[in-house]
Formats: sequence, C-alpha cells, structure tokens
Amino acid sequence: MDGLHKFVVVSSRLPVDRTEGPDGESEWQPSPGGLVSALEPVMRESGGVWIGWTGDAGPAPGPFEVDGLALVGMGLSAEQVRDYYEGFCNATLWPLYHDVIAPPEFHRRWWDAYVTVNRSFAQAAVAQAAPGATIWVHDYQLQLVPQMVREQRSDVRIGFFNHIPFPGYEIFAQLPWRRQVVLGLLGADLLGFQRRADAVNFLRACRRAAGLATRGAAIRVGDREVRAAAFPISIDAAGLEQIARQETVRKRAAEIRLALDEPDTVLLGIDRLDYTKGIPVRLRAYGELLREGRLGPRVALVQVASPSRERVGAYRVLRDEVEQTVSRINGEYAEVGSTPVQYLHQSYPREEMAALYLAADVMLVTSLRDGMNLVAKEYVACRYDESGALVLSEFTGAADELTGAFLVNPHDIEGLKDAIVRAATISPADARRRMRLMRKRVCEHDVAYWARSFLDTLAHAQDHGLVAVP
Ligand code: G6P
Repeated sequence: MDGLHKFVVVSSRLPVDRTEGPDGESEWQPSPGGLVSALEPVMRESGGVWIGWTGDAGPAPGPFEVDGLALVGMGLSAEQVRDYYEGFCNATLWPLYHDVIAPPEFHRRWWDAYVTVNRSFAQAAVAQAAPGATIWVHDYQLQLVPQMVREQRSDVRIGFFNHIPFPGYEIFAQLPWRRQVVLGLLGADLLGFQRRADAVNFLRACRRAAGLATRGAAIRVGDREVRAAAFPISIDAAGLEQIARQETVRKRAAEIRLALDEPDTVLLGIDRLDYTKGIPVRLRAYGELLREGRLGPRVALVQVASPSRERVGAYRVLRDEVEQTVSRINGEYAEVGSTPVQYLHQSYPREEMAALYLAADVMLVTSLRDGMNLVAKEYVACRYDESGALVLSEFTGAADELTGAFLVNPHDIEGLKDAIVRAATISPADARRRMRLMRKRVCEHDVAYWARSFLDTLAHAQDHGLVAVP
C-alpha cells in the first residue's frame, strides 16, 4: 500500500482547530503552533501530509485541505477518548514521564486502547507514504507507531521526536509495558529528545528493559542501528517578535498595565492548567512575599491558566487547589479597586499573549518537570527592547539554554522567593545583559533550526542499513 506523499507528519493532534461556520458546518482554522510554522515549508516543498486527531470523539473526517496544507483527520470513539487519550496518554504516560508528580495509573484496558489507536495511526501513515518517504512521528501518544510502520514498510525513513521528558529507568521501569514501548520506539531510525539527559535515560531503558547493546548514541536492533540524541525544540522567534512589535499589540500591553492600576511590578505566569507547571508553589511564594511586603505595595501577578484535560481526575483536583489559593490570596491582600492575583482560566490568541509578555516585568516559569517550556522562549522572543527578567525552573529543558534567567529549584520556596525579588529589583543594565544573552540563543536556535537539524540527521540515516555512530 503506497501513498503519494514523500513527507508524512504524524502527531496526536492536527495543526488545525474546528470551528462552526455560519450554516452550522465544520470549518477549520490553522492553529498557530510553532510546529506547524516550522514544518509548513518542508510540507509544501515536498508535498507533505499531516496525520492527526481532530480533538473530538466521533468518526474520522479523513483527508482534507486547509490553506493548501494536506491533512488526514483521525477519529477516536468516545471509549478511545476515555481509555487511550484521557487514560493511557494522560493518566498513565504523562504522570510517569513527568517523574510521577501525580501517581500514574496502570490499566490493561487502557493499554489495549493505546495499541489499537497507535495501530490506526500507523495504518494511516503507511497508506499516505510514497515509496522511500520520510515519516516523522511525534510525542508520547504515538510511541508504538514507528515499529508498526516499519513492520509493513522497510522502504521508508522514520523519525520520532519526544516532546516531553523521558524519565530515569527507576521510574520508567514501573510501566508494565516498558519493553513494548521501547521496542515500539526503536522502529525509528532516529529518536529525538529535548535534553541530553532524556536521551541518556532512553538508552538505559534500551539496555535494561529490552536487553539491547548501546554504544554512545547508537542502539543495535538486529541488523539495524538506531540513534538517540537531543534536539531541543524552539519557537518561531522572528514571527512572534513581529507580532510583539505591532502598534496594536504594544498599545494593548499599555492598556493591560493601566487596567492593573499601573503597578510598579507586573509578574506573569502563562501555563496550561497542569500539575507539572508548579502553579501552586508559585502562588505560595507570591502569597508569602505579599505578607512579608518584599515586593512593595504596588505589585500584581497575572496568571493565565488555560483549560486542559478537564475530564482527567488530577486536573480537576489541581484546578480546585489553584482557585482556592488564588481566592485566599486575593481575600487577604486585595483592596477595593486592586486585586493582587488576576487569574484567567482561558486561552488567548497570539496577539493577546504577546501583549501580556510585553506588559510583564518578570515572567515566572516554575515547572516541577517540563520537557522544554516554550512559554519561557516566547517571553524572550517578545522582549525586543531587551528589558524584563525571567525566573525559570531548573527542571525545564529551557534551563539548559536560557542561561540569562534566574534559575530556581521550585521546591525550595525560600530560594524561589529570593529569585522573584532579585528579578523584580534587577538593574536595567543587568536585565539587558541577561536578556540579550537569552535572545541570541532563542533567535539563532529557532524552530526552523530545530526541524532542519532533526531532518538533516534523519536524512543521513540509511534506509535499512546502519546509522552512523558519532
Ligand atoms: C504537551 C504535549 C503535546 C500536547 C499538548 C496539549 O505540550 O507535549 O503533545 O498536544 O501538551 O495537550 P493535549 O492533551 O490537549 O493534546
């Protein structure tokens, strides 16, 4: 079964959102993620196709086009949404791979659904790929796809990129299906991870869970050699900076500060409402700083927490905890006309996000564990005047690159409080020096650089022979 496309991207979600048209028909809008902006040029050049889920339970919409981009929509039944998406992906793998911050659940029925859904994605990829095509599979939702494709198509080149951390073996070993997952991934020629530490953890899992020999970054699988290495993902820095420079966006940033009653210091957090992001520790640190008066009287925290995975238990518990903490802080420290925490349980378009980044003096990224954290990079990309400061958890992939940030251990509340105070009282010269350093990194190593370096490395992998060992 050979398809027509020389380049096939397979990811859990399609890079488009469904909206309802005037006559009640589905309409599709491109979702402006970094991944699509990086892959779009390659897709257009090579006549590529993108396979992914629409985000709703229901039948597969099949192949369609949005703005000239070829897409194949996958369908998940209501049971698959429950057992595969909410279950195995987001209540087993997500907490397990994020160092068991929440306890992972292991259910055989969920695993069965994971296998079935991975098989249907693999089938779709096989059907779309032209002879000799390159297939790029993304993230923890689809770890079995590489091997499932390889079993049917020895002519294609397969890459896999893991967007989230890969845990240490002591944690990964809890997974009852650890061997199947490792072997599923090893169907690829090249496996990309965010940090070197993730690749090292994976190499160890190959030895321990599958008994395979590794040498440097190479794993021997029968007569093949697979490579595992770090390719830190990034953002479309130039595109975002362009948005931040727009007159309307700059005006909106000024309006936001005005609406906050012109505080001396605006702190900002922007996260999916996820327990990996460390929102409760951030609120605790801020509440204590208010009590101690260390940030002065004119300070505001804007916390955007966009809704996420709302039917998964741990996310509901987190929402309650965050909302109670916000109310407690506001109850204690608000005055008529000023609210110390502006909590926004909403998602915003890129322009509003850019305005928020411009309005903030200090960006707070306090994740307990995070594969990369693109919000940190987005903040840096928007600060074209080289002002502003970033407080960044050392447990993010971004911490390896953004050395101009105030790095913190988010579990250490006193350390976190000190870092927030230092960032809020930084001298303009020190801020400029730090921001310049971070902007150089983000502008040079943008998402196009990431995609190019992954695909170039994959292109040098041989179809079914050995991949060079560095
Ligand atoms: C993380 C994952 C992505 C995922 C996204 C949103 O960034 O790495 O694969 O798509 O979260 O999560 P959702 O469950 O809404 O797809």
